[in-house]
Amino acid sequence: MPDHIFINKKIKCFNKKIQVGSDKSISIRSILLASQSVGISKISNLLESEDVLNTLKAIKKLGINYIKKKNVYHIQGFGLNSFKIKKNTIINAGNSGTLARLILGLLVKSKFKVKLIGDKSLSKRDFSRVIKPLRLFGVNIKSKKNLLPIEILGTDFLRPITYNENIGSAQVKSCIIFCALNTPGKTIINSKISRNHTELMLKFLKYPIIVNQKQNVDKISVQGLHQFNAFEYNVPGDISSAAFFIVLTLLSKKSQIIIENVNVNKSRIGVIKILNKMGAGIQLKDKRNYNGELIANISVKGKNNLKAVNCPSKLNSAAIDEFLIIFLVAAKARGVSKFKDLGEMNKKESKRLDLGVQFLRLIGIKVERFKNNINIHGNPNLVLSSNFEIKNFLKDHRIFFLSCITALTLGGNWKINDTKSANTSFPKFLKTLRLIGAKIN
Ligand code: S3P
Repeated sequence: MPDHIFINKKIKCFNKKIQVGSDKSISIRSILLASQSVGISKISNLLESEDVLNTLKAIKKLGINYIKKKNVYHIQGFGLNSFKIKKNTIINAGNSGTLARLILGLLVKSKFKVKLIGDKSLSKRDFSRVIKPLRLFGVNIKSKKNLLPIEILGTDFLRPITYNENIGSAQVKSCIIFCALNTPGKTIINSKISRNHTELMLKFLKYPIIVNQKQNVDKISVQGLHQFNAFEYNVPGDISSAAFFIVLTLLSKKSQIIIENVNVNKSRIGVIKILNKMGAGIQLKDKRNYNGELIANISVKGKNNLKAVNCPSKLNSAAIDEFLIIFLVAAKARGVSKFKDLGEMNKKESKRLDLGVQFLRLIGIKVERFKNNINIHGNPNLVLSSNFEIKNFLKDHRIFFLSCITALTLGGNWKINDTKSANTSFPKFLKTLRLIGAKIN
């Protein structure tokens, strides 16, 4: 299969019920926690994307065995710090910042040096955000300019820390929590609010972790060195993948969709809150609790009177992976949408704020940029008819998805490269699009 696709027809009006790929954050966490539990954990509906498969490969290299039976992964753990680490072990995190940062927190007692590497995109990302707190715990870490490759050498003398996590990064917070599991005493993290799947999963495992929320900060206390038992987990759908289908529907007149069984944890639904401020009328139906996580079916209808938003930056963290697709809605909305403090977008798989602005200008939208703030001048009459080619966007999966949704809702003749990037987070993306009637060559 070539690594590009062509789209030159808008999607026709549809009315469908779909499911999207399973949640990537929860998939990665469930594997890593299963590797530290005692017994055989059974994880069903695991997302089989590259980031998650790299997580499975990583634990295998660290001596953890697993098998897949039907739709269920059985992972054999032997408790905290029970990795069997050999000399010269190299872990390749591929494209995944989550895997790279979280696994460092589990290697903090390694007797041998472990080398962490990643692909071209991950090798450009800054690791100082996790190196700094891990060094405070007493871990030895070598890295040039805080970039990969990183060499980590554990210690038997970990000391608990109190740390202010001011970025609002769940990867940093989770790395510290994972290190705290292996550290005697109580670690305290004052964390700017970010996705809280790690905390919820540990609570579900009855681990002694306490979270108190005050204003925009979570005070998290983790008591180290408690063993926990293996578990069963059924991974729900990923709101970050659902977001592309939400917007596809919203921008397709008279269409309707129900996306079943999606994780709608409060720390993840910034996209729904922002789009509803624009008049999207997205509804969460049949809400239910699953092991501490909130799950729902998402119901969306096409709308042609969307209005601009002045997006409060307190929603940034809960929508951090969805801004690219939110920008597309702003491009079609009436008025000037304003987004602030989006610097973190440039620290992702690609410099997403820069590329998002470039993309909007490519489709003829006026964008004003002031450092990390942007104003998008919407055009409700926007229709595309010329030729577009999307390349050199650093193989970022979310730019690939954005390009497809733009082509299917606004028109034009598109050649979109880097098809394989979809495998990072949502391998069945194109299949799901075709299922609801998209014509893709
Ligand atoms: C993730 C956290 C976010 C997000 C990433 C997944 C996670 O990154 O962008 O795609 O699973 O913890 P940051 O924590 O760096 O904001």
